[in-house]
Amino acid sequence: MSALVRASDPRTLPASLTPVLLTWFRTHRRALPWRRNRDPYRIWVAEVLLQQTRVAQAAPYFDRFVRAFPTVTALAQASEAEVLKIVEGAGYYARARHLREAAIELTTQYGGSLPSTVAELQTLPGVGEYIARAIASLAFDVPTVALEANGVRVATRWTRDEGDPRSSTVRRRLERAIAAVLPRSAPGAFNEAMMELGETVCRPRAPLCRVCPVSFACRAYRELPDPSVLPHRRARSPRPHVRAAVIVLDGGGRWLVQRRPSSGLLGGLFEFPGGKIEPGETPREAAQRELVEETGIVAPPLSARGVVRHAYSHFTVELHVFSGSLPRPPRRRLRGDRRWVTPAGLARLPVPKATEKVVRRLMLGSLGRASPGSGSRPDRTPLSPPSEGGRRPARSRARRTEL
Ligand code: ADE
Repeated sequence: MSALVRASDPRTLPASLTPVLLTWFRTHRRALPWRRNRDPYRIWVAEVLLQQTRVAQAAPYFDRFVRAFPTVTALAQASEAEVLKIVEGAGYYARARHLREAAIELTTQYGGSLPSTVAELQTLPGVGEYIARAIASLAFDVPTVALEANGVRVATRWTRDEGDPRSSTVRRRLERAIAAVLPRSAPGAFNEAMMELGETVCRPRAPLCRVCPVSFACRAYRELPDPSVLPHRRARSPRPHVRAAVIVLDGGGRWLVQRRPSSGLLGGLFEFPGGKIEPGETPREAAQRELVEETGIVAPPLSARGVVRHAYSHFTVELHVFSGSLPRPPRRRLRGDRRWVTPAGLARLPVPKATEKVVRRLMLGSLGRASPGSGSRPDRTPLSPPSEGGRRPARSRARRTEL
């Protein structure tokens, strides 16, 4: 293609955009915890925790995570349950499992350091193309474009791209336009400046175009009455809904819990026995059937304890909760990864958000009633996530638990 044709491409961005954006970033960048230095480990952890998550939501978990596991080696040496527990309140279970698995790989294959190339980084569990490029550019100054959701929005508006950025054709088109203005001297700063601009100025709704330092280079601003109409997105299909029954079986003051398989939905977390309610089955029948199928224990008389609902990132659930008591745990060995735990013991294990809600429901409903570990106050959940100063971390309204 001739230079003439390329120069007339309406998606070509002006070269002056680069120094203006970098100057703006130098003076406006927020002092975020992962920006204190360029430690590749901290940059990696931050990028993983920030996936599809707002900065304000991820920052407290980042602090907690790097305090608990300050190095690759410390993370590799932790148990899966310890790592899951650290991120429990936010529900970043898959991310946490991948971080630990990758840390183990880094200690065995890279001497405990992160590699610097996109190709090597991308082989690590939980590291996709964007995160690999972000680490390579932010930590090692590799000249590669790293566009996360904010950067994609900014690029879409700058170039007035009317396509759906979830399509790989559009993504490649955006990356080509940005690659042409990416400075070889500061690719990481440029990538991070695009994220910062997207988070603080070029917001999804109501962008602050009047204070934008690079509106002069933005086609959406110059050509559209409302730049926020970009990017165009197709509607998502609705999330599936699961109806399940769970049984809180009390054996002499301890609850029966089981660990989910490490791979798959909510992997490695502990929950009460239970499962899907089959068509034509009542929730109580499902509870009785699931208990005996999963544990071999025939259910004692069960009390209905209400319905708990939760929205995970990929599906929503309604859990029909039943409780029953045995004078003591049956003598025989439990099948699989199951154990009898006190409420305090359960509070030390990582559990899904919905299970935490079930426990809270039981404790609230147990006013004046005997409950396992009686003596614990019914108005306090035993499963509050650990947090600084005894306070619970602020929970985002919009966050959903990831699987
Ligand atoms: N989102 C993803 N990575 C980020 C970073 N390094 N700074 C701010 N927001 C981000």
